Amino acid sequence: MLSIDPLTKPPNTDLKLSGSKSITNRALVLSALAKGTSTLHGALFAEDTIAMVDCLKGLGVDIECDEIHERIIVTGSGGDLRSSGDPLWVRQSGTTARFIMPLAALAQTDIMIDGDPQIRNRPHKELFDALKKIGVGIIFEGEADHLPVRINGANLRAEELHVNAEQSSQYLSALLLSAPCMSQDMTLILASEVVSMPYLQMTLSMMRSFGAEVEENEKNKFSIRATGYTAKDYEIEADASTASYFFAAAALSGGRVKVEGLGKSSIQGDVGFVDLLEQMGAEVTRSEQAIEVRGSNSLHGVNASMENISDTAPTLAVIAPSATTQTSVSGIGFIAHKESDRVTAVVTELRKLGIEAEDNGDGFTIQPGTVKSGVVHTYDDHRIAMAFTVMGLVTSGIALDNPECVSKTAPGFYEYVDQLRLEGDQELAILAIDGPAGSGKTSLAKRIANKIGLEYLDTGAMYRSVAAKVIEEGINPEDSDLVVAIANKITIAFEEDEVFVDGKNLTDIIRSPEVNAVVSYVAANPGVRAVLRRTQRSWARKRGGGVLEGRDIGTVVFPRARLKVYVTATPEERAKRRSLESGRPMEKILQEITGRDEIDSSRADSPLSISGDALMVDSTGKTIDEVTEEILGSFHG
Ligand code: CDP
Repeated sequence: MLSIDPLTKPPNTDLKLSGSKSITNRALVLSALAKGTSTLHGALFAEDTIAMVDCLKGLGVDIECDEIHERIIVTGSGGDLRSSGDPLWVRQSGTTARFIMPLAALAQTDIMIDGDPQIRNRPHKELFDALKKIGVGIIFEGEADHLPVRINGANLRAEELHVNAEQSSQYLSALLLSAPCMSQDMTLILASEVVSMPYLQMTLSMMRSFGAEVEENEKNKFSIRATGYTAKDYEIEADASTASYFFAAAALSGGRVKVEGLGKSSIQGDVGFVDLLEQMGAEVTRSEQAIEVRGSNSLHGVNASMENISDTAPTLAVIAPSATTQTSVSGIGFIAHKESDRVTAVVTELRKLGIEAEDNGDGFTIQPGTVKSGVVHTYDDHRIAMAFTVMGLVTSGIALDNPECVSKTAPGFYEYVDQLRLEGDQELAILAIDGPAGSGKTSLAKRIANKIGLEYLDTGAMYRSVAAKVIEEGINPEDSDLVVAIANKITIAFEEDEVFVDGKNLTDIIRSPEVNAVVSYVAANPGVRAVLRRTQRSWARKRGGGVLEGRDIGTVVFPRARLKVYVTATPEERAKRRSLESGRPMEKILQEITGRDEIDSSRADSPLSISGDALMVDSTGKTIDEVTEEILGSFHG
């Protein structure tokens, strides 16, 4: 569960959000089919895009991921896909499930496609029907028209094909994306209304960017030449759907949020969400590089069809109660088949929070009202979790039962949310003490906290607690996902000098040589850091400040801390102190701490480094009293 800390000041933030999921997954497919090597810049690394990467690798495509630089290098297959024989696992990703089916057919052999329970429940009937018409063998291993399915494209033939895209435009996008790699030209005729038209336009525009020749000579009749695709370097825009939560937060709080890398000519339809905010009374500024929203004193309700921007409907739903008049949304009946039944989900959760909301079959109607506190059920749906987080920023007492589901499309979501809180966090009385292993931070921090009447938090003990639990459960510290799961589920409690992990006193165990040996590996895991950072920030906000010590407090956890201190001493001095405390041989300790320093300073996420505005304190040869005085002088001064 995650309690959302309300904003204490309106945000004033420039955000650089991660790349668009829809563009990343289309670019992956296009570059996998292209001839030559493509580099995708600004790519999103989230469950849905990793699902696509893994499935494409399963079709023999060589893909190199560089998450740090948000870059993916794809060596294109030129349409010559080959199965390794292993099933393709789409996780929970709808785009992956749909886009990969025609691609699997291109491999012209028996391929099993399957995924998590959530995607097994989602229908794909119209896509299966279309594939059958062009000779693709389809055998359902479970329920008809659902995954798991076995696909065999040995008899695949390109011809004129009618496609129904009433439930999802992804059916048509999936067929369009693979069409240039068929053995001959193809014609796709839209046999229904299409929902989410902007996604279809995104597909067409990206296909053309990768060299496809696709024409719409008659309305809704697409002719695609069998030219294949050409590799290219491709810049991915920031995710417009994810941006909606931050624009909404600005509108609701009367603050300002600018999202970079998302401009007025974006190929993402969800960029249109800001038009609704503008109608409600927010101020929107658009340029080619960025979009900025400023909230106003009051917002009024809207009456809108969100058919073209349905992913942002939950975002609008959480703003609606704060408007002065009713909000009514139509045109989104089809979102019942998304990760959750989204209309039912928002209406149910809003009612739980005391808001009058109604499902009107094709959308929802929401009345203005005062939101009560409560725990929101997320339905394991990232968009429900992200939308209600926004509500929690302006209402106290909102919590989410399953906050981690945001990693489907936005693993960095809560970190971005914390960037909205920077203005408020700046008002806290934070003393940040960082430094290498054994530099005496703990004793110093305790003593100073006592003198200035603030509470103290040993963040190293939190990383140690996760490491101890990893050892206790026999988990491989390199198994990133399992280690993050531990960080998510454990409870760490401090009582005086003792540390309780899931109710058990682990004070001695967390300082054992076994924990020393793995803690830095565990702490280098970005998922673990994200979870613990959230707890650390929330701890300080609840207390109006505090003394926090660790490795990244002044650089990352509280970059606007009132005072930042970097405490160090020579490795020999640090090892000598630890040896005196523990009675263990100094040589051994020296090896241990220099090893940890090396990992802590070289990891990609929040490495141990000295903040430019930190007070440097070298404690070599100094008493703890001398160092305490030095720091206190700066804190008060
Ligand atoms: O007490 P000592 O200085 O040896 O270490 P600690 O503060 O208990 O921290 C143990 C380990 O946790 C460090 O070596 C880091 O790997 C990690 N840590 C971190 O990464 N970030 C923090 N804010 C605190 C600790």
